[in-house]
Amino acid sequence: MTHKPLLATVLGQRQERPPIWIMRQAGRYLPEYREVRSHTKNFLELCYTPDLATEVTLQPLRRFDLDAAILFSDILVVPDALGQNVRFEQGEGPVLDPVSAQTIAALKPERALEHLAPVLETVRRLGAALAPEKTLIGFCGSPWTVATYMIGGRGSTDQAAARLFALRHPEAFEALIDILVATSVDYLVAQFEAGADVVQLFESWALNLDDVAFEERVIGPNRRIVEGVRARVPNAPIIGFPRGAAGNLARYAARTGVNALGLDYATPLDFAVKHLPNTLPVQGNLDPLRLVAGGDQLDARVDSIIEAFSDRPHIFNLGHGIVPETPIEHVARLVDRVKNG
Ligand code: CP3
Repeated sequence: MTHKPLLATVLGQRQERPPIWIMRQAGRYLPEYREVRSHTKNFLELCYTPDLATEVTLQPLRRFDLDAAILFSDILVVPDALGQNVRFEQGEGPVLDPVSAQTIAALKPERALEHLAPVLETVRRLGAALAPEKTLIGFCGSPWTVATYMIGGRGSTDQAAARLFALRHPEAFEALIDILVATSVDYLVAQFEAGADVVQLFESWALNLDDVAFEERVIGPNRRIVEGVRARVPNAPIIGFPRGAAGNLARYAARTGVNALGLDYATPLDFAVKHLPNTLPVQGNLDPLRLVAGGDQLDARVDSIIEAFSDRPHIFNLGHGIVPETPIEHVARLVDRVKNG
């Protein structure tokens, strides 16, 4: 039995009111985050400095009554740790030197965990700093999502570069996925050992895939990570967030074995209720722009989401990351509405 309501929900126990965390809850909508960030040379330096990463992880919990802290890092520290050149450029998002069929063999999985040691140190410090009722969430990107950045060199709306690469160079693509699965298993196991209570797999680009590709690139690798982690951390609690999975959601949950399923905001509430077993914990799924606009529409939608999932374990969250222009008062209003009705 756990006294952490969010962890208990991941493990299948419905709570009277849903616990809440906010995807990307540490970030640019907070002036105290912008202040810390302005003193760092670049974003990766923030991720690799345990003092600063611990501080920004805890910032949102000082302002709001959230039930979880999520490790401050990024899904792209893994390609960085594998030796790929990763930069975050002002106003541009991430930029990577794209891998090719030839350079995949030169990635360095053997040094990845050592490179990620500062992130694991942050997890350790957070475990010590958090109040006992708060859940500490670790994470990594799922292999396909991370591969789309590694192959494309940047974010894109259709992931065309990675989709073509997977079809034209199936062996090199499989070698890349194998590296990402193995590194992610080691990294998540190390996060649990450092004190994470739960981990989330961010499959942010589970869209734009036909059913064969979804099976091979999303379900298979996510399942291998779940099995690989649980072989070393028995019963490890894992949330899967396959953004855009739509008609594949139920299959994703059943076949990967994740404990809980993150829903994006385009997932209709009635579809989720009908197609997902009510024993499966769900997480989500407010549109982040409703939180920007605020007012009565926000309250009404929050109530509808809570009502729709009142028959099952539910963690309240956004259906994707909070955006920088979000007013802080709206976040406070959201948390109060979820906690107190
Ligand atoms: O509070 C938290 O949620 C913890 C930290 C966190 C970040 N990124 C910090 C961040 C987490 C969990 C992520 C996950 C992440 N990173 C995802 C999956 C979730 C999703 O949004 O789909 C993805 C796809 C990335 C890759 C990434 N990192 C992009 C595309 C960008 C640029 C876009 C943007 O939001 O700026 C980043 C940068 C990034 N990661 C920032 C933060 C706070 C902003 C950079 C800065 O402060 O300079």
